[in-house]
Amino acid sequence: MRWSERQREMLAAMGVRLFESSPPAATHAVELPAALAEAVPAPTPTVPTDARGDIGAMDWPALRAAVAGCRACGLCESRKQTVFGVGSEQARLMIVGEAPGEQEDVQGEPFVGQAGKLLDNMLRAIGLTRGEGPPERQVFIANTLKCRPPRNRNPDPTETARCAPFLSRQIELVRPRLLLAMGRFAAQSLLATDEPIGRLRGRVHRWRDTPLVVTYHPAYLLRTLADKARAWDDLCLAASVLEQTQ
Ligand code: URA
Repeated sequence: MRWSERQREMLAAMGVRLFESSPPAATHAVELPAALAEAVPAPTPTVPTDARGDIGAMDWPALRAAVAGCRACGLCESRKQTVFGVGSEQARLMIVGEAPGEQEDVQGEPFVGQAGKLLDNMLRAIGLTRGEGPPERQVFIANTLKCRPPRNRNPDPTETARCAPFLSRQIELVRPRLLLAMGRFAAQSLLATDEPIGRLRGRVHRWRDTPLVVTYHPAYLLRTLADKARAWDDLCLAASVLEQTQ
């Protein structure tokens, strides 16, 4: 936490010592006296909670610009670039993954690494693509997080919460007939649940009014070939939901 000069002077006057970085091992938590706590304005957070305007009212260009300039969590410090999403803005199927990896961070497009190749093959198997062919065959692909977590670590809850309005607005603008959540993070954050993926797949959920099917993340399938058959079942379920909403 960083303190202003005024706060520092007031605290020093109270005999309270501040440690900006790592405090010595045996310090005790210091309770601010009530009067002082009132007198000292709360420190300004280094990361603004939402300096991004009214995301829920943005059109595509405004949303793209807001994502590109977002500094709402610490991932903005380590990303090379934001990864907005790719595909048709009128897609019938919208795919939601977890977060950009190393290749995505470099290229600015979701799912371009090995997992992306598998995703493209899975899509092709049900007659869909990420960018070529007739518009009704194209999907839109986005991630839960728009920035790469360092060393591809799991997204943390603050990052997920700060990024969620972007994904919500993307879904509102695409208005897909079906959402396909790939992997635990996408499924759990869209459905606001902590149920494991094994219990979420195999049925049709709803994100607001939009049907949502859950499947395994392609990166997981690259490591766990035995679950590819289950992922195929999920794709067939997705294809049949799409068919019913022609
Ligand atoms: N994994 C994801 O979830 N998204 C990407 O864009 C790449 C890998």
